[in-house]
Amino acid sequence: MLDRSEIQGLLSEYPPQPVIAAVGSHSALDIADGAVTEGFRTLVLAQSGRDATYARYYRTHRDATGRVTRGCVDEVWPFPKFADLAQPAVQERLRTTGALLIPNRALSSYVPLDTIESDLQVPLVGSRSMLRLEERTERENYYTLLEAARIPTPERIAEPSQIDGLAIVKLPHATKRLERGFFTVASPGEYERKSRALIDRGSILPDDLAAARIERYVIGPVFNFNFFFSPLVPRADGLELLGVDERRESSLDGLVRLPAAQQLEMSQAGHLPDYTVVGHGTLTVRESILEEVFRLGERFVDAARGRYPPGILGPFCLQTCLDKDGRPTVFDVAARIGGGTNIHLGLGHPYGNALWREPMSSGRRLAREVRLALDDHRLSEIVT
Ligand SMILES: Nc1ncnc2c1ncn2[C@@H]1O[C@H](COP(=O)(O)OP(=O)(O)O)[C@@H](O)[C@H]1O
Ligand SMILES: [Mg+2]
Repeated sequence: MLDRSEIQGLLSEYPPQPVIAAVGSHSALDIADGAVTEGFRTLVLAQSGRDATYARYYRTHRDATGRVTRGCVDEVWPFPKFADLAQPAVQERLRTTGALLIPNRALSSYVPLDTIESDLQVPLVGSRSMLRLEERTERENYYTLLEAARIPTPERIAEPSQIDGLAIVKLPHATKRLERGFFTVASPGEYERKSRALIDRGSILPDDLAAARIERYVIGPVFNFNFFFSPLVPRADGLELLGVDERRESSLDGLVRLPAAQQLEMSQAGHLPDYTVVGHGTLTVRESILEEVFRLGERFVDAARGRYPPGILGPFCLQTCLDKDGRPTVFDVAARIGGGTNIHLGLGHPYGNALWREPMSSGRRLAREVRLALDDHRLSEIVT
């Protein structure tokens, strides 16, 4: 892991007005939109061939005074592949530009974690050492942190033979390695049948299956809670809930919109849904549930500070299913900006707006944090 003080030291060479940068996918538009709203210039690190969203459709137009009249992406640097953004010459260019890089899932998916941890000498506004937690196959992962935080997680099922009710098997897709090869099963026999069918149709690999996490399926709606933690204010004021999203997954969400009779008429292969994330929707929660949601958020912040100092800096997301009593079970964590924050891009999140008394999206909240830190000469406290 790069020494934090080394990264903080880089800031002394930075221009007075840093540029907010993000990898061009996942949440980059939300980040750029928020940054421009807070008066920053923005940079998107894109992959050639998938840069038109940023370079063309959301390119910033500014008038003679620098005021933005259209779009939110000032600069796009295209690379043949995303991982090239970590090359020494690019790192140097990022530093002279004054780039503060916002880690999103695109960064940690496309740039190797070893590189991010040991080689990427660019300040990240967020928690560098916590990005690896998301990898389920790591020995220390988000489950170990959630347990330490006494946050309810779905019960782990150690062996397929122990499946005694609805369970979800979590492993990557065979060919689309960043997508899911998840499937649900209710018995050891069904596990055998389905896993064989999925291997045969090329959706999953035997090696991944052997290392898969099997956990109890929590029946209840999914609520992804998008939080923000600021180290710039007293601890009691540090945790904010900004908004709540849910996913749209293909083909799962298409299948559940079909009547049961139609589903049963489909060929066997059509019964096995894919879980490719294709979009997000917005939610609010019943108000009596908020109290518990904040409790979980606080526990997560405390546990992260203890185990991965300096802990969570900025946005994070607890992905939950709510049971019939409204109790959240956390099945996944993003220790960085979540993938569903675009739901309130430009508008602000309901809970964030209620707190800040103005439109407050996740992207804007991040940029506001940078702004507040700059004004107070405390930028080093929010980077790793
Ligand atoms: N234990 C669980 N019970 C019910 N649904 C789950 C459970 N774990 C995951 N899911 C469903 O699967 C989706 C993806 O799971 P997640 O663990 O977030 O994987 P990833 O982030 O790798 O896509 C969730 O959005 C949710 O719909
Ligand atoms: Mg997830």
